[in-house]
Amino acid sequence: MNENENILEILHYPNAILLKKSEPVEKFDDELKKLIKSLFATMHASNGVGLAAPQVGILKKLAVIEYEDKKIVLINPKVIEKKGIQDDEEGCLSFPGIYAHVNRPQWVKIETLDEQGNKQIIEAEGYTARAVLHEMDHLEGKLFIDYLSNLKKNAIRKKVSKHTGGHF
Ligand code: NI
Repeated sequence: MNENENILEILHYPNAILLKKSEPVEKFDDELKKLIKSLFATMHASNGVGLAAPQVGILKKLAVIEYEDKKIVLINPKVIEKKGIQDDEEGCLSFPGIYAHVNRPQWVKIETLDEQGNKQIIEAEGYTARAVLHEMDHLEGKLFIDYLSNLKKNAIRKKVSKHTGGHF
C-alpha cells in the first residue's frame, strides 16, 4: 500500500446509498486515479473480485474488477453486446456471507472509458463477465438479490437484519 491509496469503508445492505443511481464520471484527474487505487486496495483488503464506487458511498459510474490476474477499470460503462447464459453462485461485498445463484450472460462486450477518458472496448466471459455485469448493476442501484424470487429475497433480508440487529 502506498500514500495514494486508502482502505475505504464498504457500505452494507440495506444502506440506502446502494439503491441509488450513480452519475457519470466527468473529471479525469488525479483524484479519479487515486480513487481507482483506493477501490482496488479496498477490494483486495476484503478478498473481493469487484467493487463499485457506490459501495464506498461515492455515486459515480466507476468500478474495479480483478479476477485471475486480469484488472479491469469500468468508467461510465455500457453493454454493447451480450451472448449466452450462465448460472453460477455470486456474492457481494455489501452482503457479507450471502451467496445466491443468478443467471447472467456468458459473454459481454462493453464500451467503457480509461483513466484518461479514452473510449475502450472490453470483452469478458464466464466469471469475469459475471463480475463486470454485477458491478455495472451497482452503478444503476441494482443489487444481485433483485434477480431472486421474493421468497429468497425475504430470507436474505431476515438474515441481514440479524447481522445488523434489525436497524434498517
Ligand atoms: Ni456487489
